[in-house]
Formats: sequence, structure tokens, C-alpha cells
Amino acid sequence: MTGTTTLTVVLAAGEGTRMRSSLPKVLHPVAGLSLVGHVLSAAPNGKDDAVAVVVGPDHQAVVDEIKRVRPGAAIFTQKERLGTAHAVLAAREAIAKGADDLLIAFGDTPLIGAATFQRLRAALKDGATLAVLGFRAADPTGYGRLLVEGDQLVAIREQADASEAERAITLCNAGVMAFAGKTALKILDQIGNGNSKGEYYLTDAVSIVRELGLRATVIETDEDEVRGINTKSQLAEAEQVMQRRLRQAALDAGVTLIAPDTVYLAADTTFGRDVTIEPFVVIGPDVSIADGAVIHAFSNIVGARIGKKASVGPYARLRPGTVLGEGVRIGNFVETKAAAIDAGAKANHLTYIGDSHIGENANIGAGTITCNYDGFDKHRTEVGAGAFVGTNSSLVAPVKIGVGAYIGSGSVVTRDVPNEALMIERSQPTVREGWAKRFRDMKLLNRKPKH
Ligand code: UD1
Ligand code: MG
Repeated sequence: MTGTTTLTVVLAAGEGTRMRSSLPKVLHPVAGLSLVGHVLSAAPNGKDDAVAVVVGPDHQAVVDEIKRVRPGAAIFTQKERLGTAHAVLAAREAIAKGADDLLIAFGDTPLIGAATFQRLRAALKDGATLAVLGFRAADPTGYGRLLVEGDQLVAIREQADASEAERAITLCNAGVMAFAGKTALKILDQIGNGNSKGEYYLTDAVSIVRELGLRATVIETDEDEVRGINTKSQLAEAEQVMQRRLRQAALDAGVTLIAPDTVYLAADTTFGRDVTIEPFVVIGPDVSIADGAVIHAFSNIVGARIGKKASVGPYARLRPGTVLGEGVRIGNFVETKAAAIDAGAKANHLTYIGDSHIGENANIGAGTITCNYDGFDKHRTEVGAGAFVGTNSSLVAPVKIGVGAYIGSGSVVTRDVPNEALMIERSQPTVREGWAKRFRDMKLLNRKPKH
């Protein structure tokens, strides 16, 4: 739909008390992204498209998240919660700029898809002044009911104001709407608060459109797409719906998921070609997995770039700032954090690599630990290309191990090691021939009968 501009106003001033959480409702995550983040990602995002978000007072954390996800978004505060139309008008300044299409969405409906916004816009293009997203509710209680005649939407009746006959209607208002931009403000300004709750209802826009002799219409969608989140159970349901979608999208993109239902993805996970993910893998935000990489079972990955043909796990934990080069092998019980591990390097067993750079083809032996923290500050470890770190070594940062150097197993490395050197820290072994037998004999001789 080129040549038209949109403004999406997202209402996020909700209190969310039923979440029983100190986190504002719209910041709860689904697939690693906040509820409001999902809505902002689905909103039209062309270069001429604008977004405005209406937040409650004292919601700095919400403002920060909005700026992170859509840096260009305009943010407005609704000081008093006087209803959905009142909330929309908090963004009056943005609306007055006169985009062609004005879209309204709620910040607590994370499953809304970009295609649905486009369907609503298409209805405007077909001549409607207002297009409302509707759905058939399994249980319509609490929703606004859509009163339709033919292909026209006549009114939306809120639960509290509906007659018994109207309450039997299952076609409900999802809350998402599209207004033709040129008349939007005029319509919104006419909405009053003469209803049982004394609130300014956005839904009253429908009858105003009709009174102006203009057309309002309904676009239907599936209930799953417009689930609003008010409780932790609804949050968990939304997570399941989102995970199903993400798994399906990954499969469609050619990712091999051996047991899709056991794999958790994030909304922003990206995959190359021929990636395989084994069962019981959990992937958090900001992860990319390049061509041919394999993630073995029971791995947990957040904030990591995984290079081509890399192998991760089973039972690996990759934390933020991990960057694995091509063919890197990270094996079982290995944890990495803020670690760049270059092509061909290996850490196959039982290791912690933090605040480190590991050069190409280096070998990090089993049980190697980078001691990156002194109780106050973090320090860096540098391991040169082709270096060999023997098992059970402690690399006490800050420390540099040179290119091609060897570290004897069990060493505590506290000083830099030059290129091609051997560093070994070991006391002389003591072997006493026959000691064990003498010890055992002495013990047996002295043993007193128990009774
Ligand atoms: C609203 C609709 C109802 C629809 C339902 C779908 C109205 C009058 N009713 O009812 O028809 O079926 O959503 O879920 O629009 N908000 C503000 N400021 C306010 C009031 C609300 O920002 O003063 C925001 C809330 O944070 C929320 C959204 O608007 O994101 C909807 O408000 P809510 O109180 O949940 O409306 P419902 O009663 O659910
Ligand atoms: Mg609601």
C-alpha cells in the first residue's frame, strides 16, 4: 500500500494489577519480547509510518522499552485513566499531523500480526471511514459486542451497557481499529462519556461515523490473534501460541527441529540454512544461528552469534556477548559470556569462558576456567590462535596466552605467556613405593573388634 502514511497509536496505560507483579503489565515478556514490543513490531514500519504510544504516569521502564524497540516512537502520557478514547486523544499532537490511516492497537495484545493491520488498512482503501477488528469469542463476557447489519457495523455495545439480547452476540471487538486519517480527529472529539462507567469509549466512534453518513465495517480474525493479557495464565497461553508460530516459521524456513514442541525460541531468533536444533533447547532474545550449525540437546542460549557449522552442547550455556566463529565446538557443561571464540576453536567439556577472546583453532581443555572476576571488577583473558590450554587450568584475568603457547594441565596462570612458550605450574610429584600396602596393613592390625 504505497503512497499512504500511517500513524499507529498503541494504548499502554493499563495498570495490570491482575498480573500480581511489580513489573508494568505491558513489559511482561512473550518469547523474550515485551507485550508492547510485539505490538510495536507488528505496527506498519515503512519510512513514512509513525508510531505513538500512550503510557500511564510514572512508567519510565515502559518508556525505555518503547524507545528500545521503536526509537522513533512518540510517547504521550495519559495522566488520568478516563477511557480508551481519552487515551487515544492523549496522542492528539501526533494525530493532528494527519497521516492517511490512523491505527489503534492495545499494548497488551502481543499476538497481533502485521498482516492484520494491513487488512484493516485495505478496508479503508475500499471506502470505509472506520474498520474494526472483530472475532468470534468462545466466551464473549466482558468484550464489546459488534452490532452489524449486512456488511456494515452499526454500533459497539460494551458489556455494561448491553441488553440481554446484545450480550448473546459472540462477534466481539478486538480493540484494534483503523480510522481514515482525514476525519479521525473530528470523530474522536465527538465521543462523550455518557455511559454507565462515565468513560470516553473509543467504541462510540462507530455510531458517530454512522451519524455522519459514513461507513464502518468489521474485519474478522481468529480469537488467538487478539487475546489480551491480564493474568499470568493468559500470559502463559500467549507464550504457547507464540511458540507454535515461531517453531512453524523456523520449520518453514528450513530449520530442522527434531522435537519442535520442546524447543523454545525468541521472537527475534534468526537462522541460516541447514541449522539443526535438537530437543529441549531454550533460546532467549538476540540469538543468530548461521548455516549448518547444530545446537545439541538441553542447551540454553541468549545474546549469542553462532557461526557457520558451529556445534553447541549438549548442555551448553551461551550467555550474552558470545560470538562463535565458523566450526567452533562448544561441548557439554561449557558456559560462555562476553566471549569471542574464533573459527575452529574448541572448548569441549566443563569450562567457563567469560570476558575473553579465544583465537582461531585454540584448544581449551576440560575444566578450564577463566577467573574473570576479583569480587569488584571483571577482567579480560586473551588466548592466542592455536594455543593449547591443558585441562583444569585456571586463567586468572587479566592475562594473555600467546599464539601457539601450551599451558600444562592444572596450571594457575597469573602471568602472560609468550607466543610458542610452555607454561606449567606444578609441584614435584612424590611417589612412595609400597606406602599404600603398609598403611592398609597398619590399619587392619590396629582394628579392634566392634563387639
Ligand atoms: C476494550 C473495548 C472493548 C473490547 C476490549 C477488547 C472500549 C471502550 N472497550 O474493553 O470493546 O472488546 O477492549 O479487549 O474501548 N487504556 C488506556 N487508558 C484508559 C483506558 C484504557 O490506556 O483510560 C488502554 C488499556 O491499557 C488497554 C486498552 O486501553 O491497553 C483497553 O482498555 P481496557 O480497560 O482493557 O478495555 P476493556 O474494558 O477490555
Ligand atoms: Mg481489556
